[in-house]
Amino acid sequence: MSRPTHILAIDQGTTSTRAIVFDAHARAVAMAQAEHAQLYPQPGWVEHDPEAIWRDTLATAGSAIGRSGVGAAAIAGIGITNQRETVVVWDRATGTPIHNAIVWQDRRTAEWCRQLNADGAEAEVRARTGLLIDPYFSATKLSWMLDHVPGARDRAARGELAMGTIDSFLLCRLTGGAVHATDVTNAARTMLYNIHDQCWDEELCRLFRVPVALLPEVHDNSRIFGTTTPDLFGAAIPVAGMAGDQQAALFGQACFAPGTVKSTYGTGCFMLLNTGAEAVRSNNRLLTTPAYRLDGQMTYALEGSIFVAGAAVKWLRDGIGVITHASQTDDMATQVPDNHGVYMVPAFVGLGAPHWDPDARGAIFGLTLGATQAHLARAALEAVGYQSMDLADAMIADGGATPKTLRVDGGMAANDWLCQFIADMMDVPVERPVHLETTALGAAFHAGLATGVWPDMDALARTWQGGEIFRPRMDAASRKRLASGWRDAVRKTLSTGA
Ligand code: G3P
Repeated sequence: MSRPTHILAIDQGTTSTRAIVFDAHARAVAMAQAEHAQLYPQPGWVEHDPEAIWRDTLATAGSAIGRSGVGAAAIAGIGITNQRETVVVWDRATGTPIHNAIVWQDRRTAEWCRQLNADGAEAEVRARTGLLIDPYFSATKLSWMLDHVPGARDRAARGELAMGTIDSFLLCRLTGGAVHATDVTNAARTMLYNIHDQCWDEELCRLFRVPVALLPEVHDNSRIFGTTTPDLFGAAIPVAGMAGDQQAALFGQACFAPGTVKSTYGTGCFMLLNTGAEAVRSNNRLLTTPAYRLDGQMTYALEGSIFVAGAAVKWLRDGIGVITHASQTDDMATQVPDNHGVYMVPAFVGLGAPHWDPDARGAIFGLTLGATQAHLARAALEAVGYQSMDLADAMIADGGATPKTLRVDGGMAANDWLCQFIADMMDVPVERPVHLETTALGAAFHAGLATGVWPDMDALARTWQGGEIFRPRMDAASRKRLASGWRDAVRKTLSTGA
């Protein structure tokens, strides 16, 4: 039998699950996608049903393999990438979750985080994890579940429960319960993992009241994590790569050299700057995070996390019915000559970097009787550009050089108007690859390295295909005027009223 040549990437995101089969030229040959329900049990709470995610994973993976026409035996390995921080706790014996997954956007532990910050815990947490104390990360959500699901703490103490981010939960299911593991990029988002010593941090586990016994084993991104049970896809396929979605996108964009930057515009927007072997500490409220670990060698990144990008467009569509399809925003933004003084601060789930204000809430400023739906659509897109500018400014202030280019991907990067506006506000060329599925591709790259589909990172870099470049063309005075309007709007939105 000939050697398997294809990779199946599973990209389990915030709003949907996608499965893509890539060939050895890194071309996507088949794809399937399913959206899952967003559950909002209370204001500020966001949950997902892990069983629905599992069903979607199986269905989309099966369809993608079917559509590829190559058959399961041709799949050399599976790469998993996932929405990060979202946490699941399950029964070790049965694999059954004890509660819905608590999603990264969920703010239910904001008060506890505020208290921890007031108690002065931030410096220590930052030094160990590279993160700031915020309900965004898994630790407080996990502890909340142990406190609120009857009997969970006792069961955890008896070793009956397991926790994991979505990658870990899917790995466990794919391997028939045999493997409880994760990778460094996902582990680092729990706020329990020491990114310098590269191990679970017992002191942090004590602080957040999480028994270490609950946590998965942590590995490099590219390795055989386990093998699927043959009944799932008709062949036992190795799960050979795992990475959090933003780190996978960095890898899929072939940002391997220190100083290279990518930004992914999905539900949120996450800008990552490769800093090489050095874990750069931010003085501007960015995160220090593992980018990937290969053969035990860690590469770090500085990350700016924006919680709402595409989610604001989704809100325009589903929340207030201003549009019927996300792609309309491109036309609407061009219909009007300027923003008419309208600014949207999309703090629907608080603000992430560089403000970290879980209590801020979304706001629209500058409405006059001349404001139209087109201005609202434009304001939602502009907000993505302004926030990208804020992140890049913070990275530069942290000692990074102005990036030569920004590589963009994610669904929203298909929007030409937005790419141009980002280039204008950042004053940096924006490079959009031919294929925008770089998150899935990054996971495929990891799995392909572990299974010999690609020999090394040079081979990966050679598959990267540049597409369009958007060059800055806005004059400095206009940029300054728009940026100042944005900063004013953000100031009014912050919960501290700063
Ligand atoms: O940290 C959250 C992030 O991983 C979610 O990504 O693509 O679902 O917006 P996405």
